This record gives sequence, structure tokens and C-alpha cells, in this order.
Amino acid sequence: MCGIFGCVLKNGDAAPLIHAALKRLEYRGYDSVGEAIIHEGKLYVKKDAGKIDDVHALLNLDDLPGKIGIGHTRWATHGAPYKVNAHPHTDCKEELAVIHNGIIENFAELRKELEDRGHILRSKTDTEVIAHLIEEKLKEGLGLIDSVRKSITRLEGSYSIAVISAKEPDKIVCARNESPLVLGISEDAVFCASDIPAFLPLANKVVIVENGELVVLNHKGYEIRKLADWSLVSRQPKIIDWNPVMAEKQGYPHFMLKEIYEQPKTIRNTLRLQDQYLELMTAFLDRAGEVSLVACGTSYHACLAASYMFSKLAFLATHPIIASEFIEQHGRAVNIDSTILFVSQSGETTDTLAAVEHARLRAATVLGLTNVIGSTITRVARVYTCQQSGPEIGVAATKTFTSQLSVLAQLALRLAKKRGKVSHTEIEFLEEKLEQIPDVAEALLKTQSEKIRQLSKKYRDKGCFFFLGRGISYATALEGRLKLLEIAYIPSIAYPAGESKHGPISLIEPDFPVIFVCPKDGTHRTILSNIMEMKARGASIIAIIEEGDEEIKRFVDDYVEVPKGMPEILSPIVYVIPLQLFAYYMAIERELNPDMPRNLAKSVTVK
Ligand code: F6R
Repeated sequence: MCGIFGCVLKNGDAAPLIHAALKRLEYRGYDSVGEAIIHEGKLYVKKDAGKIDDVHALLNLDDLPGKIGIGHTRWATHGAPYKVNAHPHTDCKEELAVIHNGIIENFAELRKELEDRGHILRSKTDTEVIAHLIEEKLKEGLGLIDSVRKSITRLEGSYSIAVISAKEPDKIVCARNESPLVLGISEDAVFCASDIPAFLPLANKVVIVENGELVVLNHKGYEIRKLADWSLVSRQPKIIDWNPVMAEKQGYPHFMLKEIYEQPKTIRNTLRLQDQYLELMTAFLDRAGEVSLVACGTSYHACLAASYMFSKLAFLATHPIIASEFIEQHGRAVNIDSTILFVSQSGETTDTLAAVEHARLRAATVLGLTNVIGSTITRVARVYTCQQSGPEIGVAATKTFTSQLSVLAQLALRLAKKRGKVSHTEIEFLEEKLEQIPDVAEALLKTQSEKIRQLSKKYRDKGCFFFLGRGISYATALEGRLKLLEIAYIPSIAYPAGESKHGPISLIEPDFPVIFVCPKDGTHRTILSNIMEMKARGASIIAIIEEGDEEIKRFVDDYVEVPKGMPEILSPIVYVIPLQLFAYYMAIERELNPDMPRNLAKSVTVK
């Protein structure tokens, strides 16, 4: 995710201000930190891997003269969290510095092109190519603004960048495509940042930079231009009256809600994973006879959903296994021929790492999927891939779950292609649908949130909920159940709908709430029968349905509609969102803090 910050001051030194701003942006990433400042026509850079306080203790981030500077706090996506990969990145002559939030998809081609032309790239990041592209343009005789303008036309992907150069020491040039960029304005300074909290104690006048815009900051203020036609944009600042705590949550009352709403963006990032990571992982999966998928909690639910994806698309047998049971249940069966994909958002969950260690000792092939580059899983796995969700602060996993599913779906599709088990037309259709998920999630959040909030008012006093789904929707039901019980403290159960009549149906009495997850897939007809069974016993039915599913609407008490056309195999990525919101609003109705459920921790590091 990363946090960027830049400032042009009339008085005083930029360094202490940058340091303080980065502290306020630390929730966006904390793998490394760095700053670059221009003073008397020279560029000075300080950076290192580690948390801001640790790097400050080592380098004293406050101790640099100069009124213009930029700073960065990193959430690693390309390149491990080492000093060399920390931002700012510089050109060959170390005269200009760039900070970046986002993902440059075509960086490998650009890097090769630049290296062929003699540039020395020091890091493994996608960002560094930007510095060298700008250097090329400056060499051709263009000024800094035009050099940035021309260079970014070469970039594919998402970015917000800020650039300074010792050759033009009076300005910061920034630009935005998809990743956030805001300006802060005060009497004595102008700021650019990924997010408002960075400058909130210093400026409450805010200008939002839009996609496709370039901004120049200098002592006179700011100038915004549209990249498409270079026209001048006149945009007046807005006054923001958030306090610093509200600002960190971008105006949302809780991190959990902010993270639920971030999903269109985070899924989009996840769909931008580098080909080479996915290809390598697919190659390992392809040569395996069968694969174990090992994880805890929400990550286990992602594994369960993935087992349907791999089997249906790639005809690969995968076995989802709860990490804390792995050694007892399968320990002796693990050997040199085993392939095991470990899924852990944090990459540090003790139960998962114990299973990893066991697998390594028995010479199994260990693969990893995590959100934290540099975590233990990334260090010990033979191959790992990162999900690129950015830090998740709410204890309950939300955006990291939908990103895990999005990575696993990409892997299943690649494997399907490689194995030629399903038709090209079907694969292309699914790839297209996967690309549409961020928009579908956005539409869902826009149209259904209020309805879900009202449902939470209606059902707030219920003592138990029953979640049911068939096929891949069983995983969605389990995840909906986990969210509700962990943050609203409502004991709840989830079952595959077909299994419900083998025992749990005895719980049903009039008005007992049953939540059905029912996308319009191959299980639709049968799930309708399960709804009827519950209805006949007086249950109150809430159904998560496809928009316009009149057949189901007729029989249920309440429903939430998901935009049409989501294929079965991708449905959990979207159908879980109403359940996340339901759990959130139930916690609010019950006056609980959803960000800090009792007895739980974000990263569980005990057995
Ligand atoms: C639930 C939740 C936990 C985690 C579990 C595994 O909302 O967050 O169930 O999913 O502790 O954590 P990771 O994925 O970090 O291994």
C-alpha cells in the first residue's frame, strides 16, 4: 500500500515535518522508511529497512537541512524489505529522487530497456524505473515537469508519485493514476500525500488530485494539469474538520468498515500480481499429484473455496486442512513428494508456521501465499506470492480474505489453461469476470449497505444464527459465520446446506434466523429446496441472492442482492461482502468495537 508525503515550506526545515508525517502514515506500511531533501542545490537521501522509530534511532530522520523534501513509508510489493529497496529511489547520478505508491505492471520490460541503454538499477523495485525514465528525458534537455510528464506515459499500472530534482530545487512534481494523492494547503506550506492524516495537524485545506493529473508544488502554491491535454485545472481546496483519529480511518468510524470499503481497490491491486510469481507457483502446482492447502481461520476458508476452484477448473485435487490439526492428522503422510500451499495473511501465525516447519523437515515442497513480504512464510517457502492488500488493521480479516480468493482464483485459472481441462472460451469468460469484480464490489457496496444496516437493526437481538451454502458457497457461509461470531459475539453455526438435515435442523424453531448464500449457480435449485425446508419450520430466512432472483425472493423474509452474472467459482469474492457488512453493523447495534474484539489478536503467535 505505501504512504507518500512531500512538502514545500516557506520557513523551517522539511525533515522533522516529513518524519512526523510518515509516522502518521505508518498504518499504510512499515517495511522501510526514507526521505530525500534538496538543500543548496544538492540531493540528500536517508533511508533504511525497518519501522520508522528504529530507522530514526539509527539515522536521525530530523537531521537534514532544506525546505523541500519527500518521504515514504513502504509496504513491500516488488522486492524484499531491504534498505536497497526502500524509497526514495534515485537516478544514476543521484540527482533526482522518486517516491511511489502503486504497482508498475510493465516494470520488467522498462527495466530491461533501461539497462540495455546503460542505466544501473540498484534495487529490485518497480519504482526505480521511474527515476531512470525521468533521467533519460532530462538528458534529452527537457525540464523536470516535462520529463515527468513524458515518463509517466510509459507506465502501465497504478501510481501516485512525487519527484524532486537537485537541478530544479524549487519544486515537487507529482502525478496520480489510481493510487490516492491529496494536497494540503496552509499559509506557509503546500503538501502532497497519500492520505489526509499525513498533514492534518499542519493544514486543513485539502485538494483531491484526480486520476490522470500532474501537479507542481512550489512556494507559490500548487498547479494542477490534466495529462491528456495539458489543460489547467482550477480546483479550490475544501476544509476538512476531521480530528487526527478520524483522519487515519479516512472518515470511517472503524478500520473494519474502511477496509470493507477498500475492497474494490485492494482486489484491483491483487489482480495486478506479477506474471512471473503466478507462473512459478502454477508450475509447482501443475507437477503435484495433489496439493494440501493449510491455514487458520479466515485463511482456511479461502483454502476451502480454493479447493472447489482447483478441482472444477484444473481437475487438481486439493485438500484444505486446518493448520493446528495438520501435524496430528497428516504429519506422517508428508514426504518429499508432498506439495503444500500455506496461506497466511500475516505470514506469522504460529500454527501455520509449525505446519510449515514440519513440512520442511520432511522435505515437502512448501509454497506460500501471504500479505506480508518479509514475513516468516516468505523466508521459508520454496516459492511464495504476495496478495497486495496493504496492511489490515481491523482484527477481523476482510479485504485480505477477498484478495486471497482473488490470488487463488488466478492460480486456478492459470493451471486450467496449462492443463487444457476447460475450454478457452470458458477461461476467457472467467478472466473477464474476474477483472470486473472490483466494479461489481463497488456497485454492491453502493447499493446494499443501507439495506444491510437496516437488517442488523431488525435482527440485533437474535441469540444465534445459522449460515448455509452449497458448493463453493459453503466457504462463504463459514466466513460469514466467523465474522459474526468473532465481532458481534453471537454464537452461530455454518453448514453445507445439504448437511443441515443431518442434525442441525433440530435447532430450528419459529423465527430462528437462517442466512442462505445462494448465487445463481448449479446449486440454485437444491438450495431452494433447503430454503423451503427451513421455511416450513418457521425459520426467518435472509438470503444473499443474485439481483432479480424472483424465485428465491418469494420465499424469504429478507434478501440482499448482488449484481448479476458472477460465475460460481468467483462468487465468494463478492458474496462474502454483505456478510462482512452484516457482522460489522450487528457489532455496532450491540455497541461493540468491531476493530478490537475481545480475546483476539491480529497475528496469533501462540499455539
Ligand atoms: C478472522 C481472522 C483470523 C485469521 C487467522 C489466520 O477474522 O482474522 O481467523 O484469519 O488467525 O491468520 P493469518 O491469515 O494471518 O495466518
